[in-house]
Amino acid sequence: MSSHAAPIPMTARRSGPLTGTAEVPGDKSISHRALILGALAVGETRVTGLLEGQDVLDTAKAMQAFGADIEKRGDTWHVNGVGTGGFAEPDQVIDCGNSGTGVRLIMGAMATSPISATFTGDASLNKRPMARVTDPLSLFGAQAVGRSGGRLPMTIVGAADPVPVRYETPVPSAQVKSAVLLAGLNAPGETVVIEREATRDHSERMLTGFGAQVSVEDSPDGRVITLRGQPELRPQEIAVPRDPSSAAFPVCAALITEGSDVLVPNIGLNPTRAGLFTTLREMGADLTYENEREEGGEPVANLRARFSPDLRGIEVPPDRAASMIDEYPVLSAVASCATGRTLMTGVKELRVKESDRIDAMAQGLRACGIEVEEGEDWWAVTGRGAGGVPGGATVESRLDHRIAMSFLVLGFASREPVRVDDAGPIATSFPIFEPLMTRLGASITRDNGVF
Ligand code: S3P
Repeated sequence: MSSHAAPIPMTARRSGPLTGTAEVPGDKSISHRALILGALAVGETRVTGLLEGQDVLDTAKAMQAFGADIEKRGDTWHVNGVGTGGFAEPDQVIDCGNSGTGVRLIMGAMATSPISATFTGDASLNKRPMARVTDPLSLFGAQAVGRSGGRLPMTIVGAADPVPVRYETPVPSAQVKSAVLLAGLNAPGETVVIEREATRDHSERMLTGFGAQVSVEDSPDGRVITLRGQPELRPQEIAVPRDPSSAAFPVCAALITEGSDVLVPNIGLNPTRAGLFTTLREMGADLTYENEREEGGEPVANLRARFSPDLRGIEVPPDRAASMIDEYPVLSAVASCATGRTLMTGVKELRVKESDRIDAMAQGLRACGIEVEEGEDWWAVTGRGAGGVPGGATVESRLDHRIAMSFLVLGFASREPVRVDDAGPIATSFPIFEPLMTRLGASITRDNGVF
Protein backbone atom coordinates (compact mmCIF):
# COMPACT_ATOMS: atom_id res chain seq x y z
CA MET A 1 0.00 0.00 0.00
CA SER A 2 1.50 3.32 -0.98
CA SER A 3 0.78 5.64 1.87
CA HIS A 4 -0.83 8.88 0.81
CA ALA A 5 -2.95 8.91 3.97
CA ALA A 6 -3.46 12.10 5.96
CA PRO A 7 -0.61 12.64 8.44
CA ILE A 8 -1.23 11.61 12.05
CA PRO A 9 0.62 14.06 14.31
CA MET A 10 1.38 12.72 17.79
CA THR A 11 2.83 14.32 20.89
CA ALA A 12 4.72 12.57 23.68
CA ARG A 13 4.91 14.24 27.06
CA ARG A 14 7.03 13.68 30.13
CA SER A 15 5.63 10.51 31.64
CA GLY A 16 5.34 8.99 35.06
CA PRO A 17 6.99 5.65 35.70
CA LEU A 18 6.44 3.16 32.90
CA THR A 19 5.48 -0.16 34.45
CA GLY A 20 4.05 -3.51 33.43
CA THR A 21 4.52 -5.95 30.60
CA ALA A 22 5.06 -4.98 26.98
CA GLU A 23 4.06 -7.74 24.57
CA VAL A 24 5.55 -6.53 21.33
CA PRO A 25 4.50 -7.96 17.93
CA GLY A 26 6.22 -10.59 15.80
CA ASP A 27 9.54 -10.12 14.09
CA LYS A 28 9.25 -8.20 10.82
CA SER A 29 12.22 -9.84 9.10
CA ILE A 30 11.06 -13.33 9.97
CA SER A 31 7.45 -12.54 9.01
CA HIS A 32 8.42 -11.45 5.46
CA ARG A 33 10.54 -14.58 5.03
CA ALA A 34 7.83 -16.91 6.38
CA LEU A 35 5.38 -15.64 3.74
CA ILE A 36 7.87 -15.73 0.87
CA LEU A 37 9.27 -19.17 1.64
CA GLY A 38 5.77 -20.46 2.39
CA ALA A 39 4.76 -19.22 -1.08
CA LEU A 40 7.69 -21.16 -2.61
CA ALA A 41 6.99 -24.42 -0.78
CA VAL A 42 4.66 -27.13 -2.05
CA GLY A 43 1.74 -27.49 0.37
CA GLU A 44 0.50 -25.55 3.37
CA THR A 45 2.79 -23.56 5.67
CA ARG A 46 1.13 -22.39 8.88
CA VAL A 47 2.41 -19.26 10.58
CA THR A 48 1.51 -17.96 14.03
CA GLY A 49 2.72 -14.74 15.61
CA LEU A 50 3.05 -13.09 12.18
CA LEU A 51 3.58 -9.35 12.38
CA GLU A 52 0.42 -7.80 10.94
CA GLY A 53 2.15 -4.52 10.14
CA GLN A 54 1.56 -2.89 6.78
CA ASP A 55 4.98 -3.93 5.43
CA VAL A 56 4.22 -7.60 5.96
CA LEU A 57 0.62 -7.30 4.74
CA ASP A 58 1.99 -5.83 1.52
CA THR A 59 4.28 -8.85 1.14
CA ALA A 60 1.29 -11.18 1.71
CA LYS A 61 -0.61 -9.39 -1.04
CA ALA A 62 2.38 -9.63 -3.35
CA MET A 63 2.69 -13.38 -2.76
CA GLN A 64 -0.98 -13.75 -3.69
CA ALA A 65 -0.30 -11.83 -6.90
CA PHE A 66 2.45 -14.35 -7.72
CA GLY A 67 -0.01 -17.22 -7.28
CA ALA A 68 0.20 -18.28 -3.62
CA ASP A 69 -2.98 -18.83 -1.66
CA ILE A 70 -2.80 -16.96 1.64
CA GLU A 71 -5.54 -16.80 4.22
CA LYS A 72 -5.78 -15.96 7.91
CA ARG A 73 -8.02 -18.24 9.95
CA GLY A 74 -8.20 -17.58 13.68
CA ASP A 75 -4.67 -16.67 14.79
CA THR A 76 -2.97 -18.66 12.05
CA TRP A 77 -1.87 -17.61 8.60
CA HIS A 78 -2.20 -20.42 6.04
CA VAL A 79 0.13 -20.13 3.07
CA ASN A 80 -0.34 -22.57 0.19
CA GLY A 81 2.73 -22.30 -1.96
CA VAL A 82 3.39 -22.86 -5.64
CA GLY A 83 6.79 -24.59 -5.39
CA THR A 84 10.28 -23.41 -6.32
CA GLY A 85 10.12 -21.79 -9.76
CA GLY A 86 6.31 -21.91 -9.72
CA PHE A 87 5.51 -18.20 -9.45
CA ALA A 88 2.84 -16.97 -11.88
CA GLU A 89 3.27 -13.64 -13.65
CA PRO A 90 1.31 -10.99 -11.73
CA ASP A 91 -1.27 -9.09 -13.75
CA GLN A 92 -0.91 -5.97 -11.64
CA VAL A 93 1.89 -3.74 -10.37
CA ILE A 94 3.38 -5.05 -7.11
CA ASP A 95 3.15 -2.26 -4.54
CA CYS A 96 5.50 -2.92 -1.62
CA GLY A 97 4.48 0.25 0.19
CA ASN A 98 7.24 1.35 2.58
CA SER A 99 9.14 -1.93 2.67
CA GLY A 100 12.68 -2.29 1.36
CA THR A 101 12.83 -5.81 2.75
CA GLY A 102 9.61 -6.77 0.99
CA VAL A 103 10.56 -5.45 -2.44
CA ARG A 104 14.18 -6.64 -2.41
CA LEU A 105 13.39 -10.16 -1.23
CA ILE A 106 10.49 -10.53 -3.66
CA MET A 107 12.62 -9.30 -6.57
CA GLY A 108 15.13 -12.01 -5.67
CA ALA A 109 12.46 -14.69 -5.35
CA MET A 110 11.01 -13.99 -8.84
CA ALA A 111 14.22 -13.14 -10.74
CA THR A 112 15.02 -16.69 -11.78
CA SER A 113 11.54 -17.52 -13.14
CA PRO A 114 10.46 -16.81 -16.74
CA ILE A 115 8.06 -14.04 -15.73
CA SER A 116 8.11 -10.26 -15.48
CA ALA A 117 6.87 -8.05 -12.68
CA THR A 118 6.74 -4.32 -12.07
CA PHE A 119 7.39 -3.02 -8.56
CA THR A 120 6.58 0.26 -6.88
CA GLY A 121 6.32 1.70 -3.40
CA ASP A 122 5.60 4.84 -1.43
CA ALA A 123 7.55 8.10 -1.65
CA SER A 124 10.20 6.74 0.74
CA LEU A 125 10.72 3.37 -0.97
CA ASN A 126 10.78 4.92 -4.45
CA LYS A 127 13.86 6.92 -3.41
CA ARG A 128 15.85 3.94 -2.14
CA PRO A 129 18.66 2.23 -4.07
CA MET A 130 17.72 -0.99 -5.86
CA ALA A 131 20.92 -1.53 -7.88
CA ARG A 132 22.34 -3.32 -4.84
CA VAL A 133 19.91 -6.15 -5.64
CA THR A 134 19.47 -5.80 -9.40
CA ASP A 135 23.28 -5.97 -9.94
CA PRO A 136 23.59 -9.48 -8.53
CA LEU A 137 20.23 -10.53 -10.02
CA SER A 138 21.54 -9.63 -13.48
CA LEU A 139 24.34 -12.18 -12.96
CA PHE A 140 21.64 -14.86 -12.82
CA GLY A 141 20.37 -13.58 -16.19
CA ALA A 142 17.53 -11.31 -14.97
CA GLN A 143 17.05 -7.82 -16.40
CA ALA A 144 15.89 -4.70 -14.59
CA VAL A 145 14.55 -1.47 -16.02
CA GLY A 146 13.75 1.23 -13.53
CA ARG A 147 14.00 4.96 -13.03
CA SER A 148 17.36 6.68 -13.12
CA GLY A 149 19.67 5.82 -10.27
CA GLY A 150 18.17 2.34 -10.04
CA ARG A 151 14.96 3.51 -8.35
CA LEU A 152 11.42 2.15 -8.34
CA PRO A 153 9.08 1.88 -10.17
CA MET A 154 11.04 -0.90 -11.82
CA THR A 155 10.33 -3.93 -13.96
CA ILE A 156 12.26 -7.14 -13.50
CA VAL A 157 12.33 -9.61 -16.37
CA GLY A 158 13.18 -12.94 -14.78
CA ALA A 159 15.83 -15.23 -16.24
CA ALA A 160 14.35 -18.07 -18.29
CA ASP A 161 17.58 -20.09 -18.02
CA PRO A 162 19.18 -18.88 -14.81
CA VAL A 163 22.78 -19.69 -13.99
CA PRO A 164 24.03 -19.93 -10.40
CA VAL A 165 26.06 -17.07 -9.00
CA ARG A 166 29.00 -16.46 -6.68
CA TYR A 167 28.60 -13.00 -5.20
CA GLU A 168 30.45 -10.98 -2.60
CA THR A 169 28.08 -8.36 -1.18
CA PRO A 170 29.62 -4.87 -1.46
CA VAL A 171 27.48 -3.53 1.42
CA PRO A 172 26.63 -5.29 4.67
CA SER A 173 23.00 -6.09 3.86
CA ALA A 174 20.84 -9.05 4.79
CA GLN A 175 18.39 -7.86 2.17
CA VAL A 176 20.97 -8.21 -0.62
CA LYS A 177 22.19 -11.55 0.74
CA SER A 178 18.62 -12.83 0.96
CA ALA A 179 17.67 -11.62 -2.53
CA VAL A 180 20.62 -13.57 -3.97
CA LEU A 181 19.81 -16.70 -1.96
CA LEU A 182 16.14 -16.58 -2.96
CA ALA A 183 17.13 -16.17 -6.61
CA GLY A 184 19.55 -19.08 -6.19
CA LEU A 185 16.64 -21.31 -5.21
CA ASN A 186 15.58 -21.63 -8.84
CA ALA A 187 19.06 -21.75 -10.40
CA PRO A 188 20.72 -25.12 -10.97
CA GLY A 189 23.88 -25.86 -8.97
CA GLU A 190 25.39 -23.87 -6.12
CA THR A 191 24.79 -20.20 -5.46
CA VAL A 192 27.35 -18.66 -3.10
CA VAL A 193 27.11 -15.39 -1.17
CA ILE A 194 30.12 -14.02 0.66
CA GLU A 195 29.61 -11.31 3.24
CA ARG A 196 32.49 -9.53 4.96
CA GLU A 197 30.40 -8.66 7.98
CA ALA A 198 27.79 -11.02 9.31
CA THR A 199 24.26 -9.68 8.84
CA ARG A 200 21.01 -11.11 10.18
CA ASP A 201 20.83 -14.79 9.25
CA HIS A 202 17.09 -15.47 9.29
CA SER A 203 17.04 -16.45 5.60
CA GLU A 204 19.75 -19.06 6.06
CA ARG A 205 18.02 -20.50 9.12
CA MET A 206 14.58 -20.56 7.55
CA LEU A 207 15.76 -21.95 4.20
CA THR A 208 17.33 -24.82 6.13
CA GLY A 209 14.06 -25.32 8.03
CA PHE A 210 12.18 -25.56 4.70
CA GLY A 211 14.56 -28.30 3.57
CA ALA A 212 17.01 -26.38 1.36
CA GLN A 213 20.70 -27.33 1.59
CA VAL A 214 22.51 -24.32 3.00
CA SER A 215 26.02 -24.32 4.45
CA VAL A 216 27.65 -21.42 6.26
CA GLU A 217 31.42 -21.22 6.74
CA ASP A 218 33.58 -18.54 8.25
CA SER A 219 36.61 -17.85 6.05
CA PRO A 220 39.31 -15.13 6.04
CA ASP A 221 37.16 -13.30 3.42
CA GLY A 222 34.11 -13.37 5.66
CA ARG A 223 31.05 -15.55 5.91
CA VAL A 224 30.50 -17.87 2.95
CA ILE A 225 26.93 -19.06 2.43
CA THR A 226 26.32 -21.80 -0.11
CA LEU A 227 22.88 -22.82 -1.31
CA ARG A 228 22.14 -25.81 -3.52
CA GLY A 229 19.54 -24.75 -6.08
CA GLN A 230 16.20 -26.24 -7.07
CA PRO A 231 15.26 -27.94 -3.82
CA GLU A 232 11.69 -28.96 -3.13
CA LEU A 233 10.78 -26.76 -0.20
CA ARG A 234 8.69 -28.53 2.43
CA PRO A 235 5.92 -26.58 4.17
CA GLN A 236 6.60 -25.60 7.77
CA GLU A 237 4.87 -24.70 11.03
CA ILE A 238 6.41 -21.36 11.98
CA ALA A 239 5.97 -19.57 15.30
CA VAL A 240 7.40 -16.10 14.66
CA PRO A 241 9.36 -14.83 17.69
CA ARG A 242 8.80 -11.29 18.94
CA ASP A 243 10.81 -8.55 17.29
CA PRO A 244 13.92 -7.29 19.13
CA SER A 245 13.78 -4.14 16.98
CA SER A 246 10.29 -3.39 18.31
CA ALA A 247 11.28 -4.42 21.87
CA ALA A 248 13.92 -1.70 21.63
CA PHE A 249 11.25 1.01 22.04
CA PRO A 250 9.67 0.01 25.37
CA VAL A 251 13.11 -1.05 26.64
CA CYS A 252 14.70 2.31 25.82
CA ALA A 253 11.65 4.22 27.05
CA ALA A 254 11.90 2.45 30.43
CA LEU A 255 15.64 3.16 30.75
CA ILE A 256 15.19 6.92 30.36
CA THR A 257 11.83 7.47 32.09
CA GLU A 258 12.07 8.03 35.85
CA GLY A 259 10.93 5.19 38.11
CA SER A 260 10.23 2.73 35.26
CA ASP A 261 10.34 -1.06 35.45
CA VAL A 262 9.12 -2.85 32.31
CA LEU A 263 9.15 -6.52 31.34
CA VAL A 264 9.34 -7.32 27.62
CA PRO A 265 8.79 -11.08 27.32
CA ASN A 266 9.85 -13.62 24.69
CA ILE A 267 12.28 -11.56 22.65
CA GLY A 268 14.44 -13.23 20.01
CA LEU A 269 18.10 -12.61 20.88
CA ASN A 270 19.72 -13.93 17.73
CA PRO A 271 23.28 -12.50 17.97
CA THR A 272 22.87 -10.95 14.49
CA ARG A 273 20.08 -8.78 15.95
CA ALA A 274 20.90 -8.12 19.60
CA GLY A 275 23.65 -5.48 19.33
CA LEU A 276 21.53 -2.73 20.88
CA PHE A 277 21.08 -4.59 24.15
CA THR A 278 24.84 -5.15 24.49
CA THR A 279 25.41 -1.45 23.78
CA LEU A 280 22.82 -0.33 26.35
CA ARG A 281 24.43 -2.53 29.00
CA GLU A 282 27.83 -1.00 28.20
CA MET A 283 26.25 2.42 28.76
CA GLY A 284 25.25 1.34 32.26
CA ALA A 285 21.64 0.37 31.57
CA ASP A 286 19.79 -1.69 34.14
CA LEU A 287 18.73 -4.25 31.53
CA THR A 288 18.58 -7.92 32.43
CA TYR A 289 17.76 -11.10 30.56
CA GLU A 290 15.39 -13.42 32.42
CA ASN A 291 14.52 -17.04 31.61
CA GLU A 292 17.08 -17.32 28.79
CA ARG A 293 16.18 -20.28 26.56
CA GLU A 294 16.13 -21.64 22.99
CA GLU A 295 12.93 -21.64 20.93
CA GLY A 296 12.70 -22.85 17.34
CA GLY A 297 16.49 -22.72 17.04
CA GLU A 298 16.68 -19.07 18.16
CA PRO A 299 17.88 -17.78 21.55
CA VAL A 300 15.02 -16.10 23.41
CA ALA A 301 14.74 -14.28 26.77
CA ASN A 302 12.45 -11.98 28.73
CA LEU A 303 13.97 -8.52 28.94
CA ARG A 304 13.60 -6.42 32.08
CA ALA A 305 14.45 -2.73 31.76
CA ARG A 306 14.52 -0.34 34.69
CA PHE A 307 15.08 3.40 34.84
CA SER A 308 18.83 3.98 34.64
CA PRO A 309 19.77 7.47 35.85
CA ASP A 310 23.52 7.05 35.34
CA LEU A 311 23.82 6.19 31.64
CA ARG A 312 27.21 7.07 30.13
CA GLY A 313 28.07 7.85 26.51
CA ILE A 314 30.25 5.23 24.81
CA GLU A 315 31.90 4.47 21.48
CA VAL A 316 29.79 1.88 19.68
CA PRO A 317 32.18 -0.43 17.80
CA PRO A 318 31.65 -0.30 14.01
CA ASP A 319 31.69 -4.10 13.74
CA ARG A 320 28.50 -4.13 15.82
CA ALA A 321 26.59 -1.98 13.32
CA ALA A 322 24.94 -4.80 11.34
CA SER A 323 23.53 -6.36 14.52
CA MET A 324 21.76 -3.13 15.54
CA ILE A 325 21.36 -1.27 12.25
CA ASP A 326 17.69 -0.45 12.86
CA GLU A 327 18.31 0.57 16.48
CA TYR A 328 20.60 3.60 16.06
CA PRO A 329 17.71 6.09 16.01
CA VAL A 330 16.36 4.95 19.38
CA LEU A 331 19.90 4.56 20.73
CA SER A 332 20.44 8.24 19.92
CA ALA A 333 17.37 9.08 22.04
CA VAL A 334 18.91 7.14 24.95
CA ALA A 335 22.30 8.78 24.30
CA SER A 336 20.58 12.16 24.65
CA CYS A 337 19.70 11.21 28.23
CA ALA A 338 23.20 9.91 29.04
CA THR A 339 26.18 11.84 30.34
CA GLY A 340 28.90 12.43 27.76
CA ARG A 341 29.30 11.65 24.09
CA THR A 342 28.08 8.54 22.26
CA LEU A 343 30.02 7.98 19.04
CA MET A 344 28.52 5.75 16.35
CA THR A 345 30.81 4.81 13.44
CA GLY A 346 30.59 2.54 10.40
CA VAL A 347 26.95 3.46 9.92
CA LYS A 348 26.61 4.87 6.40
CA GLU A 349 23.86 2.34 5.66
CA LEU A 350 21.66 4.49 7.91
CA ARG A 351 21.58 7.05 5.13
CA VAL A 352 19.64 4.72 2.78
CA LYS A 353 16.96 3.38 5.09
CA GLU A 354 13.29 4.48 5.06
CA SER A 355 14.84 7.95 5.50
CA ASP A 356 18.38 9.24 5.88
CA ARG A 357 18.27 8.29 9.54
CA ILE A 358 21.39 10.20 10.57
CA ASP A 359 20.02 13.41 9.08
CA ALA A 360 16.47 12.84 10.37
CA MET A 361 17.63 12.19 13.93
CA ALA A 362 20.32 14.89 13.89
CA GLN A 363 17.88 17.60 12.83
CA GLY A 364 15.17 16.52 15.25
CA LEU A 365 17.55 16.07 18.19
CA ARG A 366 19.10 19.50 17.61
CA ALA A 367 15.58 20.98 17.61
CA CYS A 368 15.11 19.27 21.01
CA GLY A 369 18.28 20.92 22.38
CA ILE A 370 20.78 18.09 21.86
CA GLU A 371 24.24 18.51 20.35
CA VAL A 372 24.81 16.21 17.36
CA GLU A 373 27.90 15.99 15.13
CA GLU A 374 27.84 14.00 11.91
CA GLY A 375 29.85 12.78 8.93
CA GLU A 376 28.99 10.53 6.01
CA ASP A 377 29.69 7.33 7.97
CA TRP A 378 29.40 8.41 11.61
CA TRP A 379 27.55 10.57 14.08
CA ALA A 380 27.89 11.53 17.72
CA VAL A 381 25.35 12.62 20.30
CA THR A 382 26.32 14.51 23.43
CA GLY A 383 23.78 13.78 26.14
CA ARG A 384 22.25 16.11 28.71
CA GLY A 385 21.96 13.49 31.46
CA ALA A 386 18.81 11.98 32.98
CA GLY A 387 15.95 14.47 32.89
CA GLY A 388 18.12 17.01 31.06
CA VAL A 389 16.68 16.92 27.52
CA PRO A 390 14.88 20.20 26.79
CA GLY A 391 12.46 18.86 24.09
CA GLY A 392 9.77 21.32 23.07
CA ALA A 393 9.96 20.78 19.29
CA THR A 394 8.01 19.40 16.37
CA VAL A 395 10.10 16.95 14.38
CA GLU A 396 9.65 15.28 10.99
CA SER A 397 9.24 11.52 10.79
CA ARG A 398 9.94 11.45 7.01
CA LEU A 399 7.79 8.36 6.32
CA ASP A 400 10.05 6.45 8.71
CA HIS A 401 8.45 4.42 11.50
CA ARG A 402 11.63 4.19 13.59
CA ILE A 403 12.21 7.94 13.47
CA ALA A 404 8.63 8.55 14.65
CA MET A 405 8.88 6.06 17.54
CA SER A 406 12.35 7.24 18.60
CA PHE A 407 11.19 10.83 19.04
CA LEU A 408 8.05 9.79 20.90
CA VAL A 409 10.27 7.76 23.27
CA LEU A 410 12.49 10.81 23.75
CA GLY A 411 9.39 12.87 24.56
CA PHE A 412 8.55 10.65 27.57
CA ALA A 413 11.80 11.82 29.21
CA SER A 414 12.04 15.40 27.92
CA ARG A 415 11.20 18.52 29.92
CA GLU A 416 8.86 19.84 27.23
CA PRO A 417 6.74 17.72 24.87
CA VAL A 418 8.08 16.33 21.61
CA ARG A 419 5.67 16.33 18.68
CA VAL A 420 6.08 14.11 15.62
CA ASP A 421 4.51 15.56 12.47
CA ASP A 422 3.30 12.14 11.24
CA ALA A 423 3.17 8.97 13.33
CA GLY A 424 1.25 7.10 10.60
CA PRO A 425 4.35 5.15 9.43
CA ILE A 426 4.53 3.39 12.82
CA ALA A 427 1.84 1.04 11.46
CA THR A 428 4.38 -0.49 9.08
CA SER A 429 6.18 -2.37 11.88
CA PHE A 430 4.53 -1.76 15.28
CA PRO A 431 0.80 -1.12 14.80
CA ILE A 432 0.07 -1.42 18.55
CA PHE A 433 2.83 0.99 19.65
CA GLU A 434 0.46 3.73 20.86
CA PRO A 435 -1.89 1.57 23.01
CA LEU A 436 1.02 -0.54 24.28
CA MET A 437 3.06 2.46 25.43
CA THR A 438 -0.04 4.17 26.85
CA ARG A 439 -0.86 1.07 28.91
CA LEU A 440 2.65 1.20 30.40
CA GLY A 441 1.95 4.76 31.54
CA ALA A 442 3.33 6.82 28.67
CA SER A 443 1.61 10.03 27.67
CA ILE A 444 0.95 10.10 23.93
CA THR A 445 -1.78 12.18 22.39
CA ARG A 446 -3.03 12.47 18.86
CA ASP A 447 -2.31 16.05 18.35
CA ASN A 448 -4.60 18.78 17.15
CA GLY A 449 -1.67 21.07 16.50
CA VAL A 450 -1.60 22.77 19.92
CA PHE A 451 1.01 21.96 22.56
C1 S3P B 1 16.32 -6.44 7.06
C2 S3P B 1 17.62 -6.08 6.90
C3 S3P B 1 18.14 -4.74 7.23
C4 S3P B 1 17.17 -3.94 8.09
C5 S3P B 1 15.75 -4.09 7.64
C6 S3P B 1 15.32 -5.53 7.64
C7 S3P B 1 15.91 -7.80 6.65
O1 S3P B 1 18.40 -4.05 6.03
O2 S3P B 1 17.52 -2.58 8.09
O3 S3P B 1 14.88 -3.37 8.50
O4 S3P B 1 14.82 -8.26 7.05
O5 S3P B 1 16.69 -8.45 5.94
P1 S3P B 1 19.80 -4.27 5.27
O6 S3P B 1 19.98 -5.71 5.18
O7 S3P B 1 19.67 -3.66 3.92
O8 S3P B 1 20.81 -3.57 6.12
